[in-house]
Amino acid sequence: MQDRPRRSVLYMPGSRPRALEKARSLPADALILDLEDAVAPAEKPAAREMVAAALRAGGYGPRELVVRINALDTEWGPADLAAACAAGADAVLLPKVNGPDDLARAEALMPAGADRPRLWAMMETPLGVLNAAAIAAATPRLECMVIGTNDLAKDLGARNRPDRMPLLPALATCLLAARAHGLACIDGVYNAFRDPEGLRAECVQGRDMGFDGKTLIHPDQLAIANEVFAPSAEELEEARAQLVAWDAAQARGEGVAVWGGRIVERLHAEAARQLLARAEAIRAREAAGAG
Ligand code: COA
Ligand code: MG
Repeated sequence: MQDRPRRSVLYMPGSRPRALEKARSLPADALILDLEDAVAPAEKPAAREMVAAALRAGGYGPRELVVRINALDTEWGPADLAAACAAGADAVLLPKVNGPDDLARAEALMPAGADRPRLWAMMETPLGVLNAAAIAAATPRLECMVIGTNDLAKDLGARNRPDRMPLLPALATCLLAARAHGLACIDGVYNAFRDPEGLRAECVQGRDMGFDGKTLIHPDQLAIANEVFAPSAEELEEARAQLVAWDAAQARGEGVAVWGGRIVERLHAEAARQLLARAEAIRAREAAGAG
């Protein structure tokens, strides 16, 4: 797990100036400026220019800025990648990553230099999920996997169910691969953007599985993801109490503490410290004006 908060990761079409403008004041931890599926073919060159201009103009505060480019084997992909690098995106999100070669190809096309964007990978094809471990290990430039649940469901022939049972093996496989290599992992979108209760249930499921946050498609979805993926007041209280109990046990020379009828061992103390650090990172982010 990484400390940087990525509770809410909002997609927006790169062809919509109003969305690019509005995002400067929305409480999103990260923004995905999309040049791929949300942009019609005829609009792609103009969207690329608009996204580059928005990045250069700035004003996004601490929000992480990610450009989703078209696949490198399309007529737009290489120019998208060059534009995202030149305009100073924090990361480039590669669509439909099927294997480590897709990352190597992108890296080879990126200009040299320490301030090159990091890479994020869309995990949204059956082949990509089957190759998740190799993708996660492909390059130190990769820092995040983003699950593309709509494409995955389509390719699997899966039905849309509230419990997402048909997708769980793929979600878990990507999480395992990401965590094995210290990457962040963001859950897929919830399409019904006027259904807050359905979104909340899916956020809770994703959070409980271990995802860092959720990709979102509409500003109305931000508050719920920010709340669900942040540690709750009760969790923070419990973490502090566990650490007090752990420190007291340590002072007595004991390797196990007991709090609330449960054991507290070194790993629980570490998890409690991580939770507190995550809450502090979220607090700092919100103080910096993005939440
Ligand atoms: N990012 C930033 N701003 C957004 C936004 C987004 N994803 N979606 C909507 N908004 C803005 C609108 O511009 C509007 O702003 P304004 O009222 O201040 O002018 C406000 O939020 C309310 O929008 P609303 O009228 O409710 O929605 P809409 O009908 O304009 O758009 C969608 C609905 C679904 C078309 C739009 O949310 C969208 O394009 N989402 C992203 C889709 C996407 O990127 N898909 C690819 C990945 S799955
Ligand atoms: Mg997709």
